[in-house]
Amino acid sequence: MAPMRVTIIGTGYVGLTTGTALAYFGHEVTFVDKNPEIVERLRAGVPTIHEAGLAEIMEAGRCSSVFRTDIPELSGTGVVMIAVGTPSKRNGDADLSFVDAAATEVADLVQPGARLVVVNKSTVPVGSARHVEGIISRRLAARGVEAEVHVASNPEFLAEGRAVLDTLYPDRIVIGTESPIATGLLRELYAPILEQTFEPPPGSPRPERYELPPLITTTPTSAELTKYAANSFLATKISFINEFSVLAEKVGADITEVARAIGLDQRIGPRFLQAGIGWGGSCFGKDTAAVLALGSAYDYDLQLVRSAVEVNRRQRMFVVDKLQQQLKVLRGTTIGLLGLAFKGNTDDMRDSPALTLVQELHERGAVLRVHDPVAMPSAKRHFPDLPVEYADDEVQLACGCDAVVVVTDWDQYRRLPLERMAAAMRGRLVLDARNLLQRQSVTAAGLDYVGIGR
Ligand code: NAD
Ligand code: UGA
Repeated sequence: MAPMRVTIIGTGYVGLTTGTALAYFGHEVTFVDKNPEIVERLRAGVPTIHEAGLAEIMEAGRCSSVFRTDIPELSGTGVVMIAVGTPSKRNGDADLSFVDAAATEVADLVQPGARLVVVNKSTVPVGSARHVEGIISRRLAARGVEAEVHVASNPEFLAEGRAVLDTLYPDRIVIGTESPIATGLLRELYAPILEQTFEPPPGSPRPERYELPPLITTTPTSAELTKYAANSFLATKISFINEFSVLAEKVGADITEVARAIGLDQRIGPRFLQAGIGWGGSCFGKDTAAVLALGSAYDYDLQLVRSAVEVNRRQRMFVVDKLQQQLKVLRGTTIGLLGLAFKGNTDDMRDSPALTLVQELHERGAVLRVHDPVAMPSAKRHFPDLPVEYADDEVQLACGCDAVVVVTDWDQYRRLPLERMAAAMRGRLVLDARNLLQRQSVTAAGLDYVGIGR
């Protein structure tokens, strides 16, 4: 493989993981983030996000990685990836201001004669490839610079907590562009993944029976819509099983058994059928909002997506109401929340269901104590006003609690020290909002078990 020059703009979950993998393959990667603290930590070799296997490949690719707060001059042939945030605007639409700023900075640094592929890696609405192309070509014309800049949409499908595995062993790679040169350069860039020619890092082994990922080449618009369709579908699948979890409870069925039985149908598939407190995270909420905004711009109501969002909102409240039903009066009770992160294996708390629980239960007068294996430092940093007490471990969390709620599906919560927790608690209730625990183990410790839809 001939090493290529890559500039990554934005070193969050997507930029850092993608760039690190590319450096691991031997490409020369410049990481740019405007946050100097992030750049300083990365220069010191310290990962700024909690992702299994990331430190290992960062270290292995260190000699091919440069970290900076500004974009260098862009000359010769190379790939520039825009991986900045695209948060929701008030109307749900994606806010492209970070993308616009990055594209403008890129355009100002393109040198005469350069041959670049600029990639939208961020999740962006349809038309964004053309939009970025317009920003760059107008700027180049204003500067009087002649250069070849090809724009492509290359959406990212990694999930947090398994970002390295998803990057090294994706289900597919999607490239949307009108430019055969962009397709060719990106095919070359991703050749180690497409052909699986790299040595798997010991901490992130190649999954058994992994098949080479297809490269889907399409138009920018189809690539952009693919990303929103994928996230909307996954969010809907979870909302579907959550909607049935409430019905299962009403009719006396067990949703975990129903989910297993339907998931064995190959047309349905077993993943994303875990009922619980509903989905959270930085993307499903903002991307479903962006899809709805896109539909409304075309005077088209996406009823399924709208319902998936509504069912998700209701599911979080279903957990709050369940607690209220069990404890009758929440004011003055002490409730322990196991987990702050929006899912296990990450320290990310963006749109975490735990935040809804904290807010709702606090408003109803409960005293809240929380524990999370990794997200507590990020909670203290990003949510300094969270009205909670932090516990060092699960037993300290349980001490004097009227109820304990499993909020995040951390693996370690499957093996809770239930007897010690029971001895420390004031009440008996364990509300398993992730259906993570075995009812028998909880009741054997003398506690009452309540799950979701079982
Ligand atoms: P993030 O918020 O974790 O990181 C974005 C980074 O970009 C920040 O560190 C910020 O300082 C930096 N930045 C912003 N503007 C910049 C600029 N002009 N120059 C340099 N740096 C700049 O974001 P993320 O979670 O990695 O998501 C990035 C994009 O990828 C979003 O559009 C998101 O929807 C999409 N995405 C995210 C995931 C995920 O799992 N987090 C997965 C797939 C796609
Ligand atoms: C999701 C998608 O899975 C990625 O493919 C996509 O790239 C990413 O969004 C993105 O665009 O940012 P992520 O949000 O990191 O990834 O995590 P998921 O594993 O999808 O979980 C999302 C939420 O759904 C979590 O709160 C999780 O606990 C919940 N979930 C997931 C369930 O409640 N049940 C399930 O069966 C699966």
